[in-house]
Amino acid sequence: MPLGTERIRSSPRIGLYIRIAIAVVILLTVVVVLHPLAAAQEVYAKYQSSPIPSIVHYVYIKRDANSVIDFPFAYFLTLYASAMYLKPEKIYIHTDYNETEIANANKTGSIWTKKVMSTFPDLIEWNQVFVPQWAGANENMKIDAIQHKSDFIRWNEIAKTGGIYMDFDVVPLKSLDPLLNAGFDFVGGRQYGGKDEGGQINGTINNGAFLTKANSAMARIIVREQTMGFDGRWESNLQFMTQVAERLVSIPNQVLILDRQAFAPTHWFEDSKSALFNPNEGRPSPEPLRTNSTDPLDIYDTMIRTRLARQEWEMDFSSTYMLHAFGQGQNNHNITPKKILSRTSNYGIATWEIVKKMLSEGLVTGNEDGDEKKSGGH
Ligand SMILES: *[C@@H]1O[C@H](CO)[C@@H](O)[C@H](O)[C@H]1NC(C)=O
Ligand SMILES: *[C@@H]1O[C@H](CO)[C@@H](O)[C@H](O)[C@H]1NC(C)=O
Ligand SMILES: *[C@@H]1O[C@H](CO)[C@@H](O)[C@H](O)[C@H]1NC(C)=O
Ligand SMILES: *[C@@H]1O[C@H](CO)[C@@H](O)[C@H](O)[C@H]1NC(C)=O
Repeated sequence: MPLGTERIRSSPRIGLYIRIAIAVVILLTVVVVLHPLAAAQEVYAKYQSSPIPSIVHYVYIKRDANSVIDFPFAYFLTLYASAMYLKPEKIYIHTDYNETEIANANKTGSIWTKKVMSTFPDLIEWNQVFVPQWAGANENMKIDAIQHKSDFIRWNEIAKTGGIYMDFDVVPLKSLDPLLNAGFDFVGGRQYGGKDEGGQINGTINNGAFLTKANSAMARIIVREQTMGFDGRWESNLQFMTQVAERLVSIPNQVLILDRQAFAPTHWFEDSKSALFNPNEGRPSPEPLRTNSTDPLDIYDTMIRTRLARQEWEMDFSSTYMLHAFGQGQNNHNITPKKILSRTSNYGIATWEIVKKMLSEGLVTGNEDGDEKKSGGH
């Protein structure tokens, strides 16, 4: 028998030390495993392994029975920006246009309608949906506004797969990876007020741009209760959604609410719409300086040098992930490849990088200025 073993066995005091040491190790293990930080780390590890999926959702439904598919340049722009910045697995367009109508638009539609249909045919999936007409606790509220019909469709559809919802007047301005991986099931952003309201919308969560996992608590509650709670008021869905989101903040990892700059830095009032879209006289905004550095301070300093050379009318979208461009529908004449490339409007500066990439890929000539619409397809 080796000497050492014999000695340990023969010494009662060493045996006691060993037992104490084992007890300490067990105690430490229990403390570490049950410690709130360890528990939290386990939860975060789980979340990091399952981000919000990069699946983009848009809704495009008929205004009336005779509507035809007709996309302005702004719609091609947002789809292209989604493909460029978000690198999605799929882009859904949820619609009540049938296959024949889609095929017809592809043949005889405007130049931008055709561009939407032919630029990324494998990425875009046209998903036929039923458009709801009725809501309310007794199914007696008629859903009149196309925007409200779309509210219901967007939630019903995104709840199934998860992803990023965007209205067609929203343009992503950068990668959303940091938000997809932030560790929350739902990410929303607040917005300013509407044009005919007295403050009921200001501060609510914008439902034109948000991110959610499939079947998140947020999505399940909205899908379950939105129909029942609908009372036809314009702000009804927004206020309800905001209330649910704010409550869910207190349940870990459910909801992250960002400020107004994140998804909706401008608003519906005229002063904000014209400041976003109208071209400005005089010198255009200088092209942004670039750096290949990955050092945050180098990138920051390069941004500051660009800002120092800005024009007086320039807005700052540095902290904007998605630009909900309120008023896009009335400003299509200002949203053209030519005007955007001229760097004379705030919308143009925000989307310049996107149109430059289109130009480099030969998808636009850069001379289109709104007058090419009629020439499409005939
Ligand atoms: C598609 O809709 C049109 C009306 O716009 C209708 O005439 C046609 O029958 C529909 N086609 C199919 C396959 O449902
Ligand atoms: C539209 O037509 C192009 C060919 O001209 C085709 O590649 C594309 O898949 C069509 N898109 C749709 C949505 O049918
Ligand atoms: C919205 O509310 C903020 C304060 O939270 C206020 O500063 C702002 O003027 C309001 N703006 C609009 C457009 O409603
Ligand atoms: C960044 O790298 C690319 C490719 O190497 C190069 O063409 C470009 O000039 C670089 N840009 C700057 C600002 O250094």
